[in-house]
Amino acid sequence: MAKAWSPDTWRSKPILQVPNYPDSSALDAVEGQLATFPPLVFAGEARNLKSQLAQVSNGEAFLLQGGDCAESFGEHGPDNIRDFFRVFLQMAVVLTFAGGCPVVKVGRIAGQFAKPRSSDTEVQGDVELPSYRGDIVNEIDFTKAARVPDPTRMLKAYRQSAATLNLLRALAQGGYANLNHVHQWNLGFLKDGPAEKHYEEIADRISECLEFMASCGLTPDNTPQLRSTEFFTSHEALLLGYEQAFTRVDSTSGDWYATSGHFVWIGDRTRQADHAHLEWARGIKNPIGMKCGPSLKADDMLRLIDILNPENEAGRLTLICRFGADSAGDHLPALIRAVEKEGKKVVWSCDPMHGNTIKAATGYKTRPFDLILQEVESFFDIHRAEGTHPGGVHLEMTGQNVTECIGGAREVTETDLSDRYHTFCDPRLNADQALELAFLIAGRLKRDRSQAPDFEKSVSAG
Ligand code: PEP
Ligand code: CO
Repeated sequence: MAKAWSPDTWRSKPILQVPNYPDSSALDAVEGQLATFPPLVFAGEARNLKSQLAQVSNGEAFLLQGGDCAESFGEHGPDNIRDFFRVFLQMAVVLTFAGGCPVVKVGRIAGQFAKPRSSDTEVQGDVELPSYRGDIVNEIDFTKAARVPDPTRMLKAYRQSAATLNLLRALAQGGYANLNHVHQWNLGFLKDGPAEKHYEEIADRISECLEFMASCGLTPDNTPQLRSTEFFTSHEALLLGYEQAFTRVDSTSGDWYATSGHFVWIGDRTRQADHAHLEWARGIKNPIGMKCGPSLKADDMLRLIDILNPENEAGRLTLICRFGADSAGDHLPALIRAVEKEGKKVVWSCDPMHGNTIKAATGYKTRPFDLILQEVESFFDIHRAEGTHPGGVHLEMTGQNVTECIGGAREVTETDLSDRYHTFCDPRLNADQALELAFLIAGRLKRDRSQAPDFEKSVSAG
């Protein structure tokens, strides 16, 4: 029988990636205050997302998850949120329409503040300081004072998440996402970009379909699906003191839910079976993710699946694979076979970002678009060979015209990186690159789903 769980049982377990707060009573006071604040999401919404993810795990839908590597206090503003939402909607439309597949939309947003780091300290010249751990913990500036963890930053992160979520809900439900506006989502710097023409074609076809539907009596006024969209939030559940404060009982079911976001995931560095992050995550009923990197062996993965999804509920667990373009083939097939052999129900998602980070000659951390695409392609190839569903993608992206990842049709070169390199952590796809990737994935989804080549062969043979 599973051991008793409560929102704080993680505190007696070993834990990695914890900030070193200088004043523990100040930390306790902030956590106590957070626990009295309203939840950001409701359990019913998380259940709804879980049932949509169950469809993904059955091969009937595709998961699009993406957003900043790290949200920041400095870049919080309506334009950033709207521009992200707009390109995300465009991607979803491309995948739904060109890929012929319902899309579950989950942003890395409204809570994605805490960052795991590969080293506890950062060295510049002969100065060594604590690493930046995300705006919810400390400041990015390389000074001693900035890097001291400050618990009051959690209050700011909560308020920013609430404001972001409020605008996202308004955009999703208030008319902005109306399919009749499909052309208007293409304003901004994407205009005249390489993906633009392609997008306009799709938008034209959608408008034609809408006209036809309107003549049949289906309009945005009488059909909610045409005038609004469902959009969910997600983040890495890294800072467990914050998460515990928002772990609340759902009065309908009596179950515990994380109410800091609809979906939370456990990072690749904190997924040890006997550690704190697994302990906390096993007790909440939200749909959750687990990052799977090259160090994860099939046996360990199965043990983690049993801890996180003991009832083998479809939609509960998404395995977010991030191996690197060249090594996906060495790792993913064994994991898929183990899952299939044991009959485990999971969503397979591909994070083509975190295994493909390189250092440019100019010193910038970057990711080549070609490698990102190559990892996605190999994810699809492997699933096709194994007969399983390539369920989704997990991307670091922004709606802005940044220069952080190299390549893409409107090519960003290594020397361009310094122009608009704004990320607080890892390099993100810019809006052009994100949309281009969506087109490539849509093409692949369509090709894999259709039997067109065989059909053509039989027609010409006949
Ligand atoms: C991330 O998603 O930003 C991240 C740190 O990923 P991972 O845990 O896969 O390294
Ligand atoms: Co990242």
